[in-house]
Amino acid sequence: MDQIVVTGGTRLEGSVPVLGAKNAVLKQMVAMLLAPGSHRLTNVPGILDVELMGRVLDHIGAECKPDGHDLIVEIPDDLRPEAPLELVRQMRASIIVLGPLLARNGTASVAFPGGDDLGARPIDMHLAGLRALGAEFELEHGTVVGRAPNGLTGAEIDLEFPSVGATENILLAAVLARGETVLGNPAREPEIQDLVVQLTAMGADITGAGTSRMVIRGVGELHPVDHRVVPDRLEAGTYAIAGAISRGRVRVDHCLPDHLRMELKKLAETGCEVKRGDDWFEVEGPDRPRPIDFATLPFPGFATDMQPQMVALLAFGNGTSVVTENLYDARFRYLGELMRMGADVTTEWQHAVIRGSERLSGCPVLAPDIRAGAALVLAGLRADGYTIVSDIQHIDRGYEGFVDRLASLGAVIERRSA
Ligand code: EPU
Repeated sequence: MDQIVVTGGTRLEGSVPVLGAKNAVLKQMVAMLLAPGSHRLTNVPGILDVELMGRVLDHIGAECKPDGHDLIVEIPDDLRPEAPLELVRQMRASIIVLGPLLARNGTASVAFPGGDDLGARPIDMHLAGLRALGAEFELEHGTVVGRAPNGLTGAEIDLEFPSVGATENILLAAVLARGETVLGNPAREPEIQDLVVQLTAMGADITGAGTSRMVIRGVGELHPVDHRVVPDRLEAGTYAIAGAISRGRVRVDHCLPDHLRMELKKLAETGCEVKRGDDWFEVEGPDRPRPIDFATLPFPGFATDMQPQMVALLAFGNGTSVVTENLYDARFRYLGELMRMGADVTTEWQHAVIRGSERLSGCPVLAPDIRAGAALVLAGLRADGYTIVSDIQHIDRGYEGFVDRLASLGAVIERRSA
C-alpha cells in the first residue's frame, strides 16, 4: 500500500490541466453496451475506477483497450447480462448496467451494491423507475435479478429526488424502450448532460437534458460513436482549493468553469480572487480564508463531492463556518481525521461547525473515500510538518497523477510505499 507524504507551507503557483470526468466516463462506458460495434472515448482519465469499470464490461463480454487517454471498447452482439458481487463491491456504479442490459437482453443480474463509506446509498429509485418501464425484480441471495418479459415500454416517471444514478439507469433503459418516457425531476449534473450528448450521437432521441423534465423517445437501435468526455469539474475544483489553501495562485486549464459556478462563488466569498475564461479559471488564495456557510445540493447547487475539500480550506479560516451535508448520511466521517490534525470541528446530524484555526499540524491520517482523501492531502499542503495520508487507493480511484500534478505546482509531496 502506498502513502502520500506532504510537507506543508509551500505556496502553489502555476497551471494544471484536468482530464475527462470520472462520473461521466464510467456511465459512458456502460452506455456503449446499448450498441454492438467499436466505440471510442477520448479525454479518459487514467484512474482506477475506469479500470474497474473495464473489468465489469469485460465480464459482460466487451473488450476494453486503453490507448493513452483514449479508450476503445468493442461491444459484441451477445452480452452476458450480469455483474457479480466481487466486481460490484469494487465498482458501485456497476448498478448502472441494469437498465441497458434489460433493454438489450430482457434480463439482468446485478449484485445489490449495499452501502459504502458515504452511507446506505439505496437504489429504490433505480428499481422503481425501471419497474415503471416494465421490468420486474427479485432480490435473490443478494443479487437483483431483473426481467422484462414483454420488453420495456416508455412511461411517465417522477423522481422523488434528482438521483444521478437513477436518472442514468432509467435513461439507459428508456432509449431503447417502445414509445416515450417522460422523466420528471431528473438529475441535471453536467455528466448526465454529457451522457445525453453521447447517446444522441449514437442515435437516441432525448430532449430536456439539464432541465427538470426529460423526454426520451425510444428508438429501434443505436450505433457506436467516438465521444470526448466532458472535463472533470470535481478534479478542477480540487486543484482550485489546493491553490487557495496554500495561499498560492493556481490556474486550472481544459475545464468548464460554468460547471463550478456555485463552488467558485463560495471560494470568492472566502476571499479568494477568482478569474475565469471559457475553459480555464484561476484562483488566488487569501492569507486566512473568511468563514462561510454552505449546504450541499444536487447540481447546480454546491457539489457534495467538493464538500470535504472546502471544509479543509475553512479549517484554516478566521472564524466559524457552518456546513450542511444534504446528500449523504456518512459524508462527515473524515472529520475525525481532520481533527487529528488539529481542526476544531463539531457535528450535529448533517451539520458541521468549523471553527477556523491559524495552524493545523501534520500527522498520519487515513483517506476514507476519494474526496475526503484529496481533502486531507490539501490540508497537509498548509499544515505544519508532514502529513502522511494512507489508504490512498481511494484517491487513485478519482485523480490521475494527483501527487505529480500537485508537485508540478510546487507542492513538497511524494508517493511512497508504506
Ligand atoms: N438515493 C436514494 N435512492 C436511490 C438513489 C439514490 O435514496 O435509488 C440517495 C442516495 O442514497 C444519496 C442521494 O440519493 O443519498 C444521491 O445519490 P445519487 O443517486 O444522486 O448518487 P450516485 O449516482 O450514487 C453519483 C456520483 C457520486 C456523487 C453523487 C451525487 C458516480 C459514480 N457517483 O453517485 O460521486 O457524490 O452522484 O452527486 O457518478 C465521487 O465521485 O466521489 C462520488 C461519490
